[in-house]
Amino acid sequence: MTAPVSAAKRDRVIVFDTTMRDGEQSPGASMSHDEKLELAKILEEMGVDVIEAGFPIASNGDFEAVRDISRIVRNSTIAGLCRAHQVDIDRCAEAIRPAARGRIHIVIATSDLHMKHKLQMEPAEVLEAITRSVSHARNLCDDIEWSAEDATRSDRDFLRRAIEAAIRAGATTINLPDTVGYTYPTEYADLFRYMIANVEGADRAIFSTHCHNDLGLAVANSLAGIQGGARQVECAINGLGERAGNAALEEIVMALKVRGDCLPYETGIDATHITRASRYVSAITGFPVQFNKAIVGKNAFAHESGIHQDGMLKNRETYEIMTPESVGQAPSSLVMGKHSGSHAFRAKLKDLGYELGQNALKEAFGRFKDLADKKKHVYDDDIIALVDDALARGSERIRVVHLRVVAGTEGQSAELTLAVDDVEKSAAASGDGPVDAVFNAIHEIVPHEAALRLFQVHAVTEGTDAQAQVSVRLEEDGRIATGQAADTDTLTASAKAYVNALNNLFSRKEKGRPETAIASGF
Ligand code: KIV
Ligand code: ZN
Repeated sequence: MTAPVSAAKRDRVIVFDTTMRDGEQSPGASMSHDEKLELAKILEEMGVDVIEAGFPIASNGDFEAVRDISRIVRNSTIAGLCRAHQVDIDRCAEAIRPAARGRIHIVIATSDLHMKHKLQMEPAEVLEAITRSVSHARNLCDDIEWSAEDATRSDRDFLRRAIEAAIRAGATTINLPDTVGYTYPTEYADLFRYMIANVEGADRAIFSTHCHNDLGLAVANSLAGIQGGARQVECAINGLGERAGNAALEEIVMALKVRGDCLPYETGIDATHITRASRYVSAITGFPVQFNKAIVGKNAFAHESGIHQDGMLKNRETYEIMTPESVGQAPSSLVMGKHSGSHAFRAKLKDLGYELGQNALKEAFGRFKDLADKKKHVYDDDIIALVDDALARGSERIRVVHLRVVAGTEGQSAELTLAVDDVEKSAAASGDGPVDAVFNAIHEIVPHEAALRLFQVHAVTEGTDAQAQVSVRLEEDGRIATGQAADTDTLTASAKAYVNALNNLFSRKEKGRPETAIASGF
């Protein structure tokens, strides 16, 4: 039988990141294999306790992501999601086998609505499935999380019995998701208090929150869950997740840090990594972070009004409850110019939280020199865009070699040369606007059926010579791929971002990711 959870563990909140699983279920937020590996490294460095790396039975892509992340991450536990089916659990166990610490996460719905209409199972059958699936998983792994999907709309007494069955079968974490973002903080806190007080064996498990943001209450509910006794929070960077998203990791972590007087629980998170993680997730998914988003928004630490600025000059604490530095949002400073050497560049990257290998460093330095030639001032944000761009590029079957665009009142056309599997091919095309002309030229060279789902441009820094960061999302047969690129030339960045998305789409096709992965249909 599992031993009771120690007092030390009860003073700490375990941070469980689900950006790559629930976050990726957000329509359009798919990430490539290499992007997931990079994100896993960032999360590990940040001190995330558990990284939910995917849903291994859903697709080969998810399986490979969980397996490869299990190979490279040493300090965080790697979790894979499964339904309460033996095949799901076996596939998950195989994926997490290389992990230093692996976790099997089983989910089954417990609300009447879900059991009747979705699972088409009687409550007694659900209880049997819990015992069977958790016992099977426990024979394969010591760390088992069990989730009661739609817990907040489940009958309390049935939920209590379901949790007891899961703990008896060996579950060590009990997650009570607010799957549809329906609960209220007081109600959610009470749910945890009730279950912790009434479930037989509750002292042998950690209780966990998992909140969706349909009513904008995900973070408030997660904190209320902690008040009610939960000691694990499931969350995602930038609040990514199904529909309106999950609770935002950065908001929960900073609420716990800033208001330790209200909730005196430690997390293992080094918050100075938060901004970098947020920017990276935004870049690879193409989901922008709203300017006024708490903690990671561009304006989160901006003080515009005269009264506020005056107060800040006298004492920062007048209007600042945490410093931008504490979340890694140092003011973007001027960095080196074109005469800077590679040692200074490497030191700057280290300051910004990047440790690149020899080849990646050389490549990034070359790109920095090109940028410094084109742009008068190179800022930290430029360097971040440049490195994230390279990290997000992944496979490069197709590359942009040359682009010339004519734009203006007389019409728009593009001449483009791409290297496709190292063979150069050229085309000229016109379009409704220069970007359309560029994309039409790509179509001429690489015919494909993918539809453009997102085209987004933002300036990395201020000024008319700022780099443009472009995100492109393509969709073909239910497969979604995102690409991004940064360049001082918006049209070059657009061409590169489109080509990057195509490369990701083609590599996903080669890996045979099914057209419709099992997403929310647990
Ligand atoms: O929202 C939900 O219920 C989930 C479970 C898989 C934990 O994402
Ligand atoms: Zn969820």
